[in-house]
Amino acid sequence: GSYKIAVLPGDGIGPEVVAEAVKVLSIVGKKFHHSFDLRYADFGGAAIDSSGVPFPPATQEVCMSSDAVLFGAVGGPKWDTLDPAIRPEKGLLALRKAAGAFANLRPAKLFSELADACYLRPDIVANGIDILVVRELIGDVYFGEPSGIEVRDGERVGFSNMIYAEHEIRRVAEVAFETAMKRGKRLCSVDKANVLAVSRLWREVVTEVAKGYPEVELSHMYVDNAAMQLVRNPAAFDVIVTGNLFGDILSDEAAAITGSIGMLPSASVGGANTPGLYEPVHGSAPDIAGQNLANPVATILSLAMLLRYSLNLSAEADAVEAAVAAVLAKGYRTGDIYRDGMKRVGCTEMGQLICDA
Ligand code: NAI
Ligand code: MG
Repeated sequence: GSYKIAVLPGDGIGPEVVAEAVKVLSIVGKKFHHSFDLRYADFGGAAIDSSGVPFPPATQEVCMSSDAVLFGAVGGPKWDTLDPAIRPEKGLLALRKAAGAFANLRPAKLFSELADACYLRPDIVANGIDILVVRELIGDVYFGEPSGIEVRDGERVGFSNMIYAEHEIRRVAEVAFETAMKRGKRLCSVDKANVLAVSRLWREVVTEVAKGYPEVELSHMYVDNAAMQLVRNPAAFDVIVTGNLFGDILSDEAAAITGSIGMLPSASVGGANTPGLYEPVHGSAPDIAGQNLANPVATILSLAMLLRYSLNLSAEADAVEAAVAAVLAKGYRTGDIYRDGMKRVGCTEMGQLICDA
């Protein structure tokens, strides 16, 4: 097929890791006979330097008319002294908002080749870890009104409102079931329905949505138990769907047990006619920028998610993920995942090895 991809390298190591993902994409195009129209645009600090704002209208136009957006990272000391209203990170929030991204997909996969970097006991990870957390991104206690701090009966009272409308639960549940269909067809919905009214509605709506996906095995779990099971028996999970607050915590927990931030991809997906947004979990890493030290794997795995979820190219996505695993299996490591006896490589070498694989 023929696809339009907006490419936003951003700042710091962003352009370095995105360049390697683009190399991989061009191999995918050749091998599987697709044409990818790459549409580069300024974003973040780079856009502030060229046009005064982090998410210029021209960049927005490029993104919204593309099938998907591949993004590196933004920010850095150069822009830290600017007014918060025009900081690079503001551009990211504006992009997510423009994309209507209500579902954040964060895989936590332990490559067996990197099992030594895992914090969990070897017997616990013997069967591997391959979890995808689907976190609702634009609702819940982070946005619920009323919220504030006021004086009541002579003391300060703080309050935030955990609130979900059923359409907000339904649409993220649908993303989670669709995602489960493309994976192991097991979905665990995480809530606190034994205590919270909002969670009782969450559970009801997820159970209603399940009727449309008879092939997916749905279970429910309380969030405190889920936090425990993630470290006790992570192999029990395939896809997890949960609200914004619980998902914030559980996605970091799930990611941390698998190793380096340089390995972690993410996707933010949403509305029917808006592009999915794919980016590494890490930031612009100014401490290693410009030195060919960054690990490009998080961005290359984000590209695999783009192929799988926005373009429906699962064989292509599988090929990219298999290439990453093959290169790790041969012992090649960037600094963040290096240990004695392995072969240390830089960002461009890692990207090239994955292309060759
Ligand atoms: P960071 O994720 O950029 O770096 C944290 C640590 O991890 C650093 O030691 C860095 O060298 C290392 N690291 C990160 N990515 C790596 C990779 N691919 N390979 C090897 N090592 C890697 O977070 P930090 O230092 O808190 O923030 C730096 C800048 O990035 C700030 O301006 C921050 O606002 C911005 N940021 C941007 C994000 C985004 O664009 N989505 C997300 C997080 C931070
Ligand atoms: Mg977090």
